[in-house]
Amino acid sequence: MPGLLITVEGVEGSGKTTQCRLLAGWLRKLGHRVRETSEPDGSPIGQAIRGLFEQDRVRLTPLTEAFLFMAARQLHVAEVIRPALEAGELVLSDRYADATLAYQGYGRGLDLQTIRELNALATGGVLPDLTLLLDLDPTVGLGRLGARRLDVFEKMDLAFHRRVRQGYLEIAREEKRRMVVLDAAQPAERVHQELKTAAGELLRQRGLARGV
Ligand code: TMP
Repeated sequence: MPGLLITVEGVEGSGKTTQCRLLAGWLRKLGHRVRETSEPDGSPIGQAIRGLFEQDRVRLTPLTEAFLFMAARQLHVAEVIRPALEAGELVLSDRYADATLAYQGYGRGLDLQTIRELNALATGGVLPDLTLLLDLDPTVGLGRLGARRLDVFEKMDLAFHRRVRQGYLEIAREEKRRMVVLDAAQPAERVHQELKTAAGELLRQRGLARGV
């Protein structure tokens, strides 16, 4: 497919949303057509699925959680990501398939191979060209969340968030070529510089560099 898919992952409070916005702005300034999107809420059904995780009384098993995120992902790929890639756009997604491995797999204890198989179905083989992992100690990330209403994952204990962090780092160790780990404890401007370096490198490799 002519476009590129860049995904951004990390624990709660790692600054993904801010960094996605900054990176999208930089890529647009370079003249790229950028599609900013996110999971699970990258489609209207995905937004409804996200709403389930914000309700206090909903109780789900880890496998049901995975199915819901996969349903959101399949629609997201079909309706947003694949069409944008086919149109030659640069797609920047705040979370994607690794999030289910990290949260439902390493965090909740669901079998990793099952999640990989579900991800293969849900994504239809649309893999990220680059994944930027904003690594952060979850005590710092959770401390950044402030007083707003928390979803079911944000309310989980520290041990869960530590497993999620270690899970992401494990995926990054296994997939060194695709994933770049960045220290999200640094000031946002410094993290942005490092994201630009990693994204610029990908653009150069693919012959898409424009003033990088
Ligand atoms: P956020 O990324 O905006 O914080 O919200 C998404 C929440 O859903 C976050 O707590 C992580 C969680 N999540 C999963 O547990 N599995 C997934 O596959 C995805 C995409 C998100």
